[in-house]
Amino acid sequence: MSASVGTVFTGIRFENPFLLASAPPTESDTNILRAFEAGWGGVVTKTIGMHPVVNVKGPKTRFLRSSPDTAQISMEKRANTALHSSWNWELISDKPLDWWLPRLRRIKDAYPDRVLVASIMAGSEDDRELDHWRELAEACQAQGVDAFELNLSCPHMDREDMGSNIGKNCELIDTVVRVVKAAARVPVWVKLTPTTTNIAKEAEAAFAAGADAISSSNTFTSLPLVDPQSLEFEVHVEGKVSYGGLGGPAILPQSLAKMAQMTTAFPDRSFSGIGGISDFTHALNYFLLGCGTVQVCTAAMLDRAIGPTIISGLISGMQAFLEQHAGDGWRTLDDFRGIRRDRIVAHSEIKRPDAKEYFGGHDAREGYAHPASIATDLPG
Ligand SMILES: Cc1cc2nc3c(=O)[nH]c(=O)nc-3n(C[C@H](O)[C@H](O)[C@H](O)COP(=O)(O)O)c2cc1C
Repeated sequence: MSASVGTVFTGIRFENPFLLASAPPTESDTNILRAFEAGWGGVVTKTIGMHPVVNVKGPKTRFLRSSPDTAQISMEKRANTALHSSWNWELISDKPLDWWLPRLRRIKDAYPDRVLVASIMAGSEDDRELDHWRELAEACQAQGVDAFELNLSCPHMDREDMGSNIGKNCELIDTVVRVVKAAARVPVWVKLTPTTTNIAKEAEAAFAAGADAISSSNTFTSLPLVDPQSLEFEVHVEGKVSYGGLGGPAILPQSLAKMAQMTTAFPDRSFSGIGGISDFTHALNYFLLGCGTVQVCTAAMLDRAIGPTIISGLISGMQAFLEQHAGDGWRTLDDFRGIRRDRIVAHSEIKRPDAKEYFGGHDAREGYAHPASIATDLPG
């Protein structure tokens, strides 16, 4: 068998494991058609909902950059900088469901072999909101979408029953996932918020309710920095700011930690890795932890809005990697997926110098002989 970047994830065949994440690159049919033309294996649409959406006045997304010769991290455009992160307070799609439906069909007709995932969102406070989840799922799947991604992760929601406020609450996760699973005829991915203590708990609730995969991370809750001269936030509307989401290079290590918490707890489940990816070496980290696909947002936004250079780099990077490891017998993603997951252990399991032993911050128990089993039970 010759090497292939193709893969199967939640039962769906992908030409390659690289998707555009739910965000501005997938906010319209025009963008999505361009993305497929550029070679993306799949896209997750900008989140489609049923409640009124009105974005803030002024920019919805800005990019922070760092300088090699100063400590400055700022949104100010200047020469000789590197991308640090994206910061956004954009809401979900401001286009109604009726706008999306014929477009989903057109996209699927034009690219039947590419994967179209509909990101959907509603509330959870009453039966009317739960009906919205059903309605969104039934309407989108009637247009031929291949899967759903439930947005339980948007970090800037005032409503207590929506977005990351669902993703922080295992009972609400259970309710919403069960409602969508009962209506869906296609796989249901659940996009969890990274802003909880141990995301494996929320993943457990989602899987128990029938989720086919977990996607993570959405952006991390954050504020723009204050400009030291004007003492105004770098993003504000008439002096006021609110919490937004951080994406891009800065969140790669944090997002990997969130992913590792889940993939080590559920090694046999499916995960789609998101956060800070712009080339194959980044994607590889998620694959080695056990992810079966990855998604990209910030890097694609900065590459002609849909990431043509990013996707060709991801594909050629994976092809070169498979060639490099042909001698190991690696032909597809499944041959190396998850092979570094088992290296992540409790702190006390890391070797100490000079053969000294460490019991997770506790004294060795005098007269007792099981330090290893004691150490694994201790909090970090
Ligand atoms: C401007 C902007 C809008 C976004 N909108 C959505 C959205 O509607 N639904 C969603 O699930 N995630 C949304 N996201 C989060 C991204 O899909 C992604 O999870 C996050 O940006 C991390 O990936 P990155 O580091 O590649 O940017 C948005 C991100 C940005 C920057």
